[in-house]
Amino acid sequence: MNSNLYDFGLVGLGVMGRNFLLNIADHDFAVVGLDLDLEKVTSLQHEGSSKKVKATQDKTEFIRSLARPRRIMMLVPAGGPVDAVINDLLPLLDKGDIIIDGGNSFFKDTDRRIESLKSSGISFFGLGVSGGAEGARKGPSMMAGGDAEAYSHVQPIFEAVSAKVNGEPCVARVGNGSAGHYVKMVHNGIEYGLMQIIAESYDLMKYALGYSNAQIAARFDEWNAGRLQSFLIEITAEIFKQKDELTGGDLIDLISDKAKQKGTGKWISQNALDLGTPIPAIDASVSMRAISSFKQEREKAMLLYPKSQDDPTMITIEELEATVFFSFILTFAQGMKQLDEASELYGFDLHLAEIAKIWRGGCIIRASLLEEIRSAFADNSALEHLLFENDIVEMVNELLPKVNNVVGVAANTGIPVLGIGASLNYFNAFRSARLPLNLIQAQRDYFGAHTYERTDRPGVFHTNW
Ligand code: 6PG
Repeated sequence: MNSNLYDFGLVGLGVMGRNFLLNIADHDFAVVGLDLDLEKVTSLQHEGSSKKVKATQDKTEFIRSLARPRRIMMLVPAGGPVDAVINDLLPLLDKGDIIIDGGNSFFKDTDRRIESLKSSGISFFGLGVSGGAEGARKGPSMMAGGDAEAYSHVQPIFEAVSAKVNGEPCVARVGNGSAGHYVKMVHNGIEYGLMQIIAESYDLMKYALGYSNAQIAARFDEWNAGRLQSFLIEITAEIFKQKDELTGGDLIDLISDKAKQKGTGKWISQNALDLGTPIPAIDASVSMRAISSFKQEREKAMLLYPKSQDDPTMITIEELEATVFFSFILTFAQGMKQLDEASELYGFDLHLAEIAKIWRGGCIIRASLLEEIRSAFADNSALEHLLFENDIVEMVNELLPKVNNVVGVAANTGIPVLGIGASLNYFNAFRSARLPLNLIQAQRDYFGAHTYERTDRPGVFHTNW
């Protein structure tokens, strides 16, 4: 390789792109960045002056600077900007070059891009990158999908810059085609689910247990030292300690309760419906963000339907911790199941133990529970469902009475627990050898002659009701 050439190119020098580029440079790779914004180019050149870093606004200079096969990663907003960058660079690229999309792109867009670039001999990778701006700088978790041979050209760089757990890199080629972006979508669905469950536990601590913000912070800190250890519980404890610079009060009390979303959570719910794989705990978290946006209606309805004034202190903090842990298990179980189904349908060839492994560090859903999930799928790659794993069975049976009590108290006191409730109801449906859906079949046949099957003999039947 010509030593004047750069190992890696990065398009899009926003916070994520710039941080990721500097992370690569920290590991002694030569990196060149491209952005149309002069300010971003100049400031990166300044910050990277002691490293093997170059930044430019000129795409021809960018392409000429790269060693071949060229390894070019985009960190630009999903959608149109990704296609725009591809179209812009394509005439300058050669057969064998590799383009990586590190944004939160919809997996079907990634499939389309892989297909359309095939005729030019360009390998296109969908790369899920998790960990936010800090992760990008210090070590993200990365989920790559695409051609195995092309991956070998980026693997050393990705492994160097990724987060590490017990010395193992939190990056892998998780599967074929758009597998990387699919796995990231599921990651984000689980992220939504866990966040919602934690938010519900905050509501229960505040209104069922009467905790102050300081007490809530202390509990989350305690939880983070136990089986609930996770990035999201950890940052939640920090959030409850944060004071507002303007008023001196607790910042959490001043933040609007209308939650926003960029779309990845919605995609997984839509795709789950397509696949026929139920993920109600994740659906609930997407729905709760939508419900939260109806502020005016919520204020009006509160006056019409006042909540019970009964003393709600009938749960213990231990029961609540058990409920959150149960709901975490159920949310992960639903996400893993969806990965399993999608792997088959889309031909991704996913390995669930490998995915759990690279989620243990760097990403938003990192949690000590993932080590148990990893080992469950590593011990038995044919495991149909996380809820069938022996240790999980034991844990869930032990947690259940506590969860039942918490959900009952939440219902009595009008505290909404869509995420926790969906976890419990999914579980109850999953463990019901008999469901009342024979009635649905009867109703369908009654009004639409849709026919039904019988329990006592084979065949398809219709009744003149
Ligand atoms: C990550 C995050 C990241 C981003 C989400 C936020 O893994 O680092 O998931 O991708 O924070 O896209 O999504 P919403 O705006 O939909 O909450």
